[in-house]
Amino acid sequence: MSPRLPPSVLIAFIGAVLAQTGCGTGDGALPWALRPIEREHRFPARDRRGAEVRGGQIVSADDLNLGRMAYVHYCASCHGLDGGGRGPQSEGLVPAPRDFRTAEHKFAAVRSGELPNDDDLARMVEHGMNGTSMPGWGLAPADVRQIIQFIKTFPKADGTPSRWLDVVGSGPEEGQPRPTGEPVRAGRDPWRRSPRQGAEVGKRVYHLKAQCQECHPSYVARGELAAMAGADGLPVPEPRPEPHEPTVLEAAKNPFGGDIPAPDFTRHPLRSIGPDREVADLYVVVAAGVGGVMPSWIDSLPPAELWGLAHYVDDLRRLGQPGSERALRKLRGALASESRPSRGDSHLER
Ligand code: HEC
Ligand code: HEC
Repeated sequence: MSPRLPPSVLIAFIGAVLAQTGCGTGDGALPWALRPIEREHRFPARDRRGAEVRGGQIVSADDLNLGRMAYVHYCASCHGLDGGGRGPQSEGLVPAPRDFRTAEHKFAAVRSGELPNDDDLARMVEHGMNGTSMPGWGLAPADVRQIIQFIKTFPKADGTPSRWLDVVGSGPEEGQPRPTGEPVRAGRDPWRRSPRQGAEVGKRVYHLKAQCQECHPSYVARGELAAMAGADGLPVPEPRPEPHEPTVLEAAKNPFGGDIPAPDFTRHPLRSIGPDREVADLYVVVAAGVGGVMPSWIDSLPPAELWGLAHYVDDLRRLGQPGSERALRKLRGALASESRPSRGDSHLER
């Protein structure tokens, strides 16, 4: 099913919005995407090599208006005419469509929390988000570029200018656009000839050094965890209640306005990684983190361990695919039959 609305529905929708906002009361009352943009905008930019472009990029009013019209046509049904993520098709969608007014993004190849680059935004629009209602669009690259420039113009919810238009306030860079994040790129995979060994390294980093199981499930039983920690000379991590179930990041603790489960990789589709993506894409997600919900790891783990994590997550993901049922049952069985807490940590019993 194509999520693209037939023109008649769209015209009725815009008509309803106009009736609601009182057409004829002037541009001030129109939602943002229905207001013509009258001037060019200057946004931060990076060149092909990822270096910051001094002075940013200038996008003409014509390009922004073309992007605006395409946005109304393709995107507003979910993301809303005001960019707030509450278009008529958004009702009941989990996760909810992104509120563009916050300029917060999850799956950009920049350190969690930084502004994404154009390539990130274009990739999300072209590929869509696996496992959500956000489709991939077969739009021409030039159209995608215009739409993503337009979505940077949405003012914040309080009406103040978009975060994309922030400039650096002081110092030698004064007056320059505030830069987007430095792109996180996958280099050479040190485990490309020995992916098993890479996954083994990843498994240890996952459960010991990085403790990804604080949010995601733990995939080892207590005894195996203690043995791994002993072998590596590390303390055994304190297990949280129900260690093999994912946790949920509550709406109040994330900027996206809904509960967000940390995926169980054997069960939940990964958003940024369609079925056709590769281990290198997983490396980027883990290294960069997920904006607003998961920290970036690139500054705290060496590349070989980050690549190990990517291989480990990839193995877990494959366990959830058809053909691996038996191996998955075996893993689940081992975790379920985990012995009761031994003497000494009986305080963990609930
Ligand atoms: C059918 C509903 C729907 C339509 C139509 C739609 N989106 Fe989305 N979009 C979503 C949902 C849902 C999410 C949030 C997914 C999540 O949070 O994991 C999203 C997220 C996004 C994101 C954020 C990605 C991130 O990493 O934070 C961007 C950018 C985006 N959409 C752009 C667009 C553009 C541009 C269009 C039109 C070409 C569009 N969307 C049309 C539902 C939709
Ligand atoms: C503070 C909690 C937290 C920690 C710690 C954490 N994550 Fe996440 N992670 C999340 C949440 C929440 C999501 C789901 C984001 C979404 O779908 O909106 C996620 C998503 C992911 C994804 C899926 C991205 C996608 O494309 O859908 C991967 C892969 C991942 N995490 C790997 C890891 C690894 C590896 C570690 C440890 C190095 C880790 N995470 C640590 C919370 C966390």
